[in-house]
Amino acid sequence: MIDKSVLITGSTGMLGKDFYSLINKKYRKTITLNRIDGNLLNPVFISEFLDKNNPDIIIHCIADTNVARCEKNKEQTLSLHRDLTDYLSSYNAKFVYISTDAVINPTNFYAESKLLGEKIALKNNQDCIVVRCNMYGINSSSKNSLFEWAYKNLKKSTEITGYTNVIFNAVYTKQIVFSVEKIIQSNFKGIINVGGNYSISKYEFLKKICEVFEFDTKLVHLGEIDSSGDKKINDTTLNVDVLNNKFDIELSLDEGLKQLRRDFYDK
Ligand SMILES: NC(=O)c1ccc[n+]([C@@H]2O[C@H](COP(=O)([O-])OP(=O)(O)OC[C@H]3O[C@@H](n4cnc5c(N)ncnc54)[C@H](OP(=O)(O)O)[C@@H]3O)[C@@H](O)[C@H]2O)c1
Repeated sequence: MIDKSVLITGSTGMLGKDFYSLINKKYRKTITLNRIDGNLLNPVFISEFLDKNNPDIIIHCIADTNVARCEKNKEQTLSLHRDLTDYLSSYNAKFVYISTDAVINPTNFYAESKLLGEKIALKNNQDCIVVRCNMYGINSSSKNSLFEWAYKNLKKSTEITGYTNVIFNAVYTKQIVFSVEKIIQSNFKGIINVGGNYSISKYEFLKKICEVFEFDTKLVHLGEIDSSGDKKINDTTLNVDVLNNKFDIELSLDEGLKQLRRDFYDK
């Protein structure tokens, strides 16, 4: 048992719930903060919440991951991604900001505002760890992750399209949790990429899902995302040298998908 208290924000979300499972087993105290607890955009509420709970570590997972909604409601998105991060990272605790691979070349307001969140967290907090990542995993029934969208369609034998020009090294949420917990235990500060030791298109990823969940790979059609008409490649593969060399962590796609399959059928 590690004698520290950890606050997880967004513990109702896909990644936050997996952080909760691990941290709750391993650390003295786990605290959660979600919209149900109060007005997250009120700095007084946040400050009182932090003073009352006094966490040693904050893992900040809250974000609006609906890209279209972020584009439409820019003020609300800024309040959540920039201002809430500002309030939380100003507290005297090790601060872990869960970011995204999309900040490297922001093409939408979700990514721009997540980048602002990174900047403010790094400025406010000396012990800040910014985790850039992309992920697949299991969400709640009301929110469909990439994997769940694919699974539901494939199960009905509905054909789906996989983009060949969108390339990433997303990892399973539990692989992120495992890696971040190791990073928290070190004295690392700054930005770290948490991704797999591979680079794969969404098309290839969906075919892998078919193989692992025993669906016909022919259900996945080749497609291209139309990024402003030109057939550009959108490659957000993260360089994972630091994760490999400093932390000796190499994340494989086969292992991640195997773990996902086990968890999916166990749930
Ligand atoms: N999902 C991905 O593919 C992906 C990729 C790269 C990085 N990330 C980053 O990883 C982190 C976790 O993402 P996730 O996939 O776990 O997202 P998620 O499943 O959508 O969960 C997001 C969490 O934020 C909360 N939240 C969203 N909007 C809110 C609002 N307006 N007010 C209060 N709480 C709000 C949600 O609460 P409710 O449950 O109440 O809605 C939930 O607890 C985020 O920082 C995200 O930017 C995600």
